[in-house]
Amino acid sequence: MLKISWTGAALILAHIWPSVYALDPLEHINLFIGTINGGHTFPGATVPHGLVKVGMDTDSPGNHAGYDGDPSWNVTGFSELHQSGTGGQVPLSNFKIFPIHNCSVFEQCLTTIEERKISRSVLADGSPDDFASPGYFATNLSNSIRVELTATRRTALHRYTFPIDSTTPRILLDVTNDGQLSASDITMLIDPDTGRMTGSGSFANSFGKDRYHAYACVDFDQKPFEYGPYKINYADLWGTDIHQHYYTWGYEHGGLVGFQSSGVDVTTILVRVGISLISVDQACSNAEEEIPNFDFESVVRDSEDQWRDILSRVQVEAEGVDEDTVTLLYSSLYRTHVAPADFSGENPGWVSDEPYWDALYCNWDTYRTLFPLLSLHDPVNFASVVRGMIDIQRHEGWLPEGREMGTQLYIQGGSHGDPILADFFVKYQHYAEKLGVSADNLYAALLADAEDTPPNWNVQGRQADAWKEYGYIPSDTTFRGGANTKQVSRSIEYAFNDFTISQVSKALGHSEDAVKYAARAQNYLNSWNGNVSMPERSNVTGFFQPKFMNGTWNYTDPRHCSVNDPTKSTCFLNAIRRDGFYETSPIVYSQYVPHDTAKLIELQGGVDSFVERLDFMFENNYFDSTNEPSQQIPYMYHYADKPGRTAERVRETISFWFNTSRNGLPGNDDSGAMGSYVFFYLAGLYPLPGTKQFLLSSPYFPSISFFNPLFNTTTSIVSHNFGGGNIYVEGVKVNGEAYKSNCFLEWEVFMKGSTVELELSSNREVGCGQDGLPPSLSTGGYD
Ligand SMILES: *[C@@H]1O[C@H](CO)[C@@H](O)[C@H](O)[C@H]1NC(C)=O
Ligand SMILES: *[C@@H]1O[C@H](CO)[C@@H](O)[C@H](O)[C@H]1NC(C)=O
Ligand SMILES: *[C@@H]1O[C@H](CO)[C@@H](O)[C@H](O)[C@H]1NC(C)=O
Ligand SMILES: *[C@@H]1O[C@H](CO)[C@@H](O)[C@H](O)[C@H]1NC(C)=O
Ligand SMILES: *[C@@H]1O[C@H](CO)[C@@H](O)[C@H](O)[C@H]1NC(C)=O
Ligand SMILES: *[C@@H]1O[C@H](CO)[C@@H](O)[C@H](O)[C@H]1NC(C)=O
Ligand SMILES: *[C@@H]1O[C@H](CO)[C@@H](O)[C@H](O)[C@H]1NC(C)=O
Ligand SMILES: *[C@@H]1O[C@H](CO)[C@@H](O)[C@H](O)[C@H]1NC(C)=O
Ligand SMILES: *[C@@H]1O[C@H](CO)[C@@H](O)[C@H](O)[C@H]1NC(C)=O
Repeated sequence: MLKISWTGAALILAHIWPSVYALDPLEHINLFIGTINGGHTFPGATVPHGLVKVGMDTDSPGNHAGYDGDPSWNVTGFSELHQSGTGGQVPLSNFKIFPIHNCSVFEQCLTTIEERKISRSVLADGSPDDFASPGYFATNLSNSIRVELTATRRTALHRYTFPIDSTTPRILLDVTNDGQLSASDITMLIDPDTGRMTGSGSFANSFGKDRYHAYACVDFDQKPFEYGPYKINYADLWGTDIHQHYYTWGYEHGGLVGFQSSGVDVTTILVRVGISLISVDQACSNAEEEIPNFDFESVVRDSEDQWRDILSRVQVEAEGVDEDTVTLLYSSLYRTHVAPADFSGENPGWVSDEPYWDALYCNWDTYRTLFPLLSLHDPVNFASVVRGMIDIQRHEGWLPEGREMGTQLYIQGGSHGDPILADFFVKYQHYAEKLGVSADNLYAALLADAEDTPPNWNVQGRQADAWKEYGYIPSDTTFRGGANTKQVSRSIEYAFNDFTISQVSKALGHSEDAVKYAARAQNYLNSWNGNVSMPERSNVTGFFQPKFMNGTWNYTDPRHCSVNDPTKSTCFLNAIRRDGFYETSPIVYSQYVPHDTAKLIELQGGVDSFVERLDFMFENNYFDSTNEPSQQIPYMYHYADKPGRTAERVRETISFWFNTSRNGLPGNDDSGAMGSYVFFYLAGLYPLPGTKQFLLSSPYFPSISFFNPLFNTTTSIVSHNFGGGNIYVEGVKVNGEAYKSNCFLEWEVFMKGSTVELELSSNREVGCGQDGLPPSLSTGGYD
């Protein structure tokens, strides 16, 4: 079969993508959603999955993406490297460029981060005078300097427009101040002939224990008349806001250049910043290659074209739908394509021809909805990520779980590279070779996760030895190799991971393995304690609970880590925790076995008590939209043949938690995990990663379609009787034929390119149809 390279694949697709769009998604995107209130989203300029994400940095404590939508936080610079929507420590935020307004004496310029920071202009409604659209960001500083930013994959282009009365416009490159002030091993050079500045350093990653190296190459579109390094002792800052100290730490260091003002008009200076993880030379060649002339408008246009190409693959009919809903859909889709990032050519670890992907932050968040969304409209990037992950496994022994600038990040749950690879493979098995994915290497990578115990399961692989020996992760293991925490969550996640491996085994015809991993997928049963009840609600019985090596149980209150937890605990990463749960309460986890819900219903005493429990969770705020294990909960009613309740819970969830305001996200976006989950809710779909099924409900649009550029097919979901209270799916037709279920669609429907017609009604009691329940491991259907 034709084997195409990574760049070859991009070229082929460019030919088959139709050039006429019904609706331009770029007109329906708000990049400021989630920029206050802990959403930590990145509103700056980037291409889809770009390494460089150039944007504003502020002194906000919530500056994880540099930016803060609240203008009372001041600007500290404009840097090239960011994440979007992360928790942990403040990531990246290097290297900062800063315009100095009007400083006539070089030595007297205010260069330290504390001295130079400045407020933004504020509009009449109190919001900052900032503008953002895909590929472009602009702000007006209170000293009347206008800043505009755009980017290619590895290079940023900044445009600074100084006011007429600015006699000595200057630009500063700050090498040391990353988001954590963690720099060491700094280099900084200025070429006196051109003003080119190069800088590099070592910095702390934001959710792990390793440090990364980064390199920058800064050029100007004009020659400075004055230049030099600045180096300022941090002594003045001692005891203020310093998080980390390293041995060479102690200075703020960078370069400062000055330009002649035009005298009669505003002075505009273009600054091009190439970035590399390899060397300053490579940073310079990246910049020269990607932005050879300093044509700001053409870089913006190219970036917009890339965004339009990818986002236009989803089209909606928006008639009768309010603009906020359209904007919520496309803004959410946009954030699905910010991370992970294509770092090909920038792997600091080893030389390989394979693509290299980074900003995997983290698989725990993204495996559930982000990658399944890529499967619908972006198979080439999906395949490329899978190739990159397999290449990492071949060099490090295990699939990556979280990755930042070539370093490993902490694992949150199971080994979630597995469902990502499985989701790709079960859907694209027959195209894997064409997309450059080796089925053998993919399978070997899955088996390594499943069978080999890594030296440190905090950062790669899983606690495979205990899992194989006990069939659960005991609360009191004495195994070495990682933190003995989140044991119950890990047990349930490992079971799901093994389920997805069994799906791949089956697809490959490895039937013994398929049976083996399907059996291990049922290990979640080992953590089910049918004797534990909800305090003050004795008829809500049966929970996942921590279990010791000797088979006896420990006890974790089902309310633990929920809003109703009397001890107000939180279940985040913490090496001393013994409660067993991560990012959610036992009551939520006990409602979420995505691959075997039929069995869970049985464990909970049947459909009625299962539904009663779901209702109880929603009515008492146990459902927690901010953390991933809750994301599928509204769709769990499907398995009880009550898809009408799903449609209602989905609408409650969206209207209560998500909107297009700056505070329109209830928590971190988690690198697009929230974005992709909201997208699915609005599209009336929910994915089951590692399977060929999508749960189906009613979309928010009379029609929504997905173009798959690999198959050159479009699948449209069209709703009849759309509007009003008609949110219940009464019947489904695919290409004119009655479909087997009202509650799920098979992958085949999307692969072939189909017209799916939904008959909507106001009858909330309609079910999934005869034999229409979605599959479960114990009742079959995952074929
Ligand atoms: C893709 O499909 C369209 C019709 O849906 C067709 O016009 C076009 O030629 C196809 N492109 C390729 C490359 O097959
Ligand atoms: C931002 O700067 C302005 C003055 O330019 C100052 O009044 C304000 O307090 C600063 N904000 C913070 C959060 O430091
Ligand atoms: C900039 O500096 C020049 C010379 O020192 C001064 O005349 C001018 O007023 C300053 N402009 C601003 C906006 O501060
Ligand atoms: C900044 O000011 C310019 C005029 O100088 C204006 O055109 C622009 O809309 C303002 N806002 C932004 C974000 O660029
Ligand atoms: C639940 O309690 C009963 C009666 O005490 C006991 O027989 C059974 O083994 C217990 N089950 C579990 C899972 O602990
Ligand atoms: C469980 O108890 C609650 C009150 O605590 C009651 O409203 C509900 O009907 C009971 N459910 C069943 C199935 O008995
Ligand atoms: C089982 O192990 C736990 C924790 O190590 C211990 O507290 C308990 O006494 C043990 N129970 C039995 C029956 O050995
Ligand atoms: C049992 O659970 C409690 C509460 O989470 C915890 O404090 C204790 O350390 C656990 N015991 C063991 C042996 O893990
Ligand atoms: C947007 O959602 C947030 C919660 O995520 C809420 O606090 C805020 O009030 C909502 N804003 C609007 C305009 O609905």
